[in-house]
Amino acid sequence: MTAKIIDGNAIAKTLQQEIALQIKERLSQGLRAPGLAVVIVGENPASKIYVSKKRKMCQELGMISQDHNLPENIAESDLLKLIDTLNKDHKIDGILIQLPLPQQIDSNKILENILPDKDVDGFHPYNIGRLSIGHSVLRPCTPKGIMTLLKSTGVDLKGMNAVVIGASNIVGKPMAMELINARATVTICRSTTRDLPSIARQADIVIAAAGVAQMVKGGWIKPGAIIIDVGINRSADGKLVGDVDFDQVKEIAGWITPVPGGVGPMTVATLMENTFYAAAVLHSVV
Ligand code: GUN
Repeated sequence: MTAKIIDGNAIAKTLQQEIALQIKERLSQGLRAPGLAVVIVGENPASKIYVSKKRKMCQELGMISQDHNLPENIAESDLLKLIDTLNKDHKIDGILIQLPLPQQIDSNKILENILPDKDVDGFHPYNIGRLSIGHSVLRPCTPKGIMTLLKSTGVDLKGMNAVVIGASNIVGKPMAMELINARATVTICRSTTRDLPSIARQADIVIAAAGVAQMVKGGWIKPGAIIIDVGINRSADGKLVGDVDFDQVKEIAGWITPVPGGVGPMTVATLMENTFYAAAVLHSVV
């Protein structure tokens, strides 16, 4: 068996085109373009790549991207001051602080100071809480984007066994809540979970988000399962690989996301979706 590919590039492109059209429509009504502040602290090479993709996508869709490139040694109080300014700026609909932040800065404190209705990453405890009670407002981009990918398969998630490998605040935990809200039966594991292959073999859906290159092997997979690979790792020979051993797993799974071209483009497109939603629904009076 060879799995069907879930084409994240194509699905993200369709979503981007829809958002671009809706922005055009807004502008033709005399409304302002949605605005996203993209904040990066320091020189982390991976963060720089992600941030440049987000800024570029804003421009392509007709949104305003307000760029803030801050030094590695910035004081926490100065970052809080910037957030306060952005919270009060009526032209800014979304505030994105690229993570991770340097050690001198308390990330939780920073995220809690973003107004929940500008928290387009969906990381504020208010938005996480709303997601967990099944009454979401702004939802974390990677898990929300994965729900869009799962929807594209046409498979009904109700009653399915889903195994999430990885329990981060950014992906694993909100992913589990998304799947619970879709009425799946959810198990959250970590790379260190005992008997992980046998737990994964029970799964109709595997979300691999542990950050361990090519950890999920063909022998872990139930025939026909849906495999979502959130990992972005460099292999020893410099190739970009996911958390799933793609060549092995594609022979057994029913559906699989590639790396690159699976989850990555959906995260960026979903950030645009959230920013548009913040502008059009949450900030509709300004
Ligand atoms: N770092 C890794 N993933 C993300 C993300 O989705 N949002 C932000 N802000 N930082 C990240």
